[in-house]
Amino acid sequence: MDFFETVRRRQSTRRFSDQPVAHEDILTMLEAATLAPSATNEQPWHFIVIRDKELKQGMRDVVKAVLEASISETDNQARRKRLARMRFYSTHFAAAPVAIAVLARPWAGGGYGSRPDSTSHDLALQSIAMAVAQLLLAATALGYSSCFASAPVEFAREELEALIGAEPPWFLVGTISLGMAAKQPQERAPRKALEEVCTFIG
Ligand SMILES: Cc1cc2nc3c(=O)[nH]c(=O)nc-3n(C[C@H](O)[C@H](O)[C@H](O)COP(=O)(O)O)c2cc1C
Repeated sequence: MDFFETVRRRQSTRRFSDQPVAHEDILTMLEAATLAPSATNEQPWHFIVIRDKELKQGMRDVVKAVLEASISETDNQARRKRLARMRFYSTHFAAAPVAIAVLARPWAGGGYGSRPDSTSHDLALQSIAMAVAQLLLAATALGYSSCFASAPVEFAREELEALIGAEPPWFLVGTISLGMAAKQPQERAPRKALEEVCTFIG
């Protein structure tokens, strides 16, 4: 598939068929991810590929438990509604044939200068974002669908890290739901016009 067609075709997909994802294809996606640029080439990423149904369900259960507790704790109707919508948006990885847990570790510093914690954290996330983007595009090029999600981690970071055995300095950034789409893609999420998001100087 042509590169620009791949980029245009990628859409976040959250419902999947039972069709399996070939191991070789996952290796190809992971290779694409690891070819991404990273700050001082530290490659601060680790991907845990999860097919194990019990683990996926356990992960979904801890996210649900925290989410349900937050919903019952709030009297604010608007917040309740927003949280209720997140039930699906934070747990679709559990119903995907493959869930990939994406971990990062803080930028170590490249051997120069001072490195406040916030910079180390930011550079790790910037590097991870590039790797995840390449993985999602590789999935599209191979005919699969996917969705990156940060919400599971927003709700239940510690619980999820314990379940997957993530140890400091590694921290969980998000999950990728991966598989064959259950149905034809819906209309793409709208994009802002180029004029709105670009400025040309000179
Ligand atoms: C940093 C980041 C966090 C996201 N978190 C979630 C999430 O928690 N749950 C989810 O279902 N989708 C999540 N998404 C997917 C976005 O909702 C999606 O990319 C956006 O709506 C644009 O749609 P598209 O990917 O189909 O182009 C996330 C995407 C990014 C880049």
